[in-house]
Amino acid sequence: MRFTRRAAVAAVGVAALLTATACGSSDDSSGGGSGSSKVEVFTWWADGGEKAGLDGLVKQFGTDCAGQTFENGAVAGGAGANAKSVLASRLQQSDPPDTFQAHAGAELQDYINAGQIEDLSADYDSWGLKQAFPQGLIDNLTVEGKIYSVPANIHRANVVWTNKKVLASAGITKDPTDLAGFIADLDKVKAKGIAAPLAIGKDWTQLMLFESVLITDLGPDKFTGLWTGATDWNDPLVTKAINDFKTLLTYTNSDRDALDWTDAEKLVMDGKAAYQLMGDWEAADLDAKKFTDYAWFTFPGNGDTFQWLADSFVLPKGAKNPEGTKCWLKTVGSDAGQKAFNTTKGSIPARTDAKPADYPKYQQAAIADWKSFKQVPSCAHGSACSQGWQGAANSALGKFSTNSDVAELQKAMATAASEFVKK
Ligand code: GAL
Repeated sequence: MRFTRRAAVAAVGVAALLTATACGSSDDSSGGGSGSSKVEVFTWWADGGEKAGLDGLVKQFGTDCAGQTFENGAVAGGAGANAKSVLASRLQQSDPPDTFQAHAGAELQDYINAGQIEDLSADYDSWGLKQAFPQGLIDNLTVEGKIYSVPANIHRANVVWTNKKVLASAGITKDPTDLAGFIADLDKVKAKGIAAPLAIGKDWTQLMLFESVLITDLGPDKFTGLWTGATDWNDPLVTKAINDFKTLLTYTNSDRDALDWTDAEKLVMDGKAAYQLMGDWEAADLDAKKFTDYAWFTFPGNGDTFQWLADSFVLPKGAKNPEGTKCWLKTVGSDAGQKAFNTTKGSIPARTDAKPADYPKYQQAAIADWKSFKQVPSCAHGSACSQGWQGAANSALGKFSTNSDVAELQKAMATAASEFVKK
């Protein structure tokens, strides 16, 4: 155990090592083996609203699963930047945590295809989960008739978060509904002396912004087709989107490639930027940080499109405490568990029987939109593309952030699609 943990952590370097230690991952004296009553829950929710959501779930687990103990295996870093490397090493070395966080959709299929997680279909039947979740989500969790994970939530990715004071001082009173309007507003903020009005971070956060621009320029159906093979990445509308994305990057902070999403969020909180495109975990995070002067709007031009992703939990093959893990999974899927988690995580419950009145203002709006809006998946958060594809997209965007070469980015995305789209 001691050796495998060290080897795994070495894969992501010293920063992740410090984080893993700080978050209290399973220590070497914890025993384990059969008969363990510890459930190591592996996530990247180590701080702010993300940690608050996890804490809510842990509290409910304590109520539901007497005799079991939660063990925090969190490895910090937005969207799993570090956690996924540690997890991959641990799975490879047959040292899985008892459960880990995985996005519904293509990302989950990576683990299913690799034979790393257990079929939970029988548990779905005994816990009544097939009736509790919407059919579309069940479809995204199912491979060849089997269901492999329990969703904790639905998040929305295509949301712009604003600093209300900064907007007011620039005389902006209405939300922009198209890109031209957004750029006009960015110019107004710039004219007030804010050099980089649109805050952004590294690779995956740039992929999020790029995906939002693609939704605007291609529309939701053609956008979804980019990930299924129905839309060609060489389409001229993709060229237009890359050019629009390039324009937007000129309004962003030049240190973007070194920042995580929370660093970019801080620029908004500090009034050094007016806007940030980010998933709705930002609502919970701003609340947790007691920043109240914020508002939000759908990314301009996305209309009634809800770009979704879902966090789910799995039972890895070889988990030390499958019984305790099943109790964790049951809690995750329960009405009480989803309420405990989502009221502080910014997401909405995946269960259709949740009561909107139980949720804060932002989530009440999101619950309504989820029912009526057009749903599209996210590559940055695994519902649209596999981890390999995500990595290729992130690295292409990293290059673009430095060289702004439109043709090169389009070619790299087309090449990635030809490699990763399901034939
Ligand atoms: C996503 C995850 C969210 C949130 C976000 C930022 O991938 O689904 O729950 O944690 O990353 O870390």
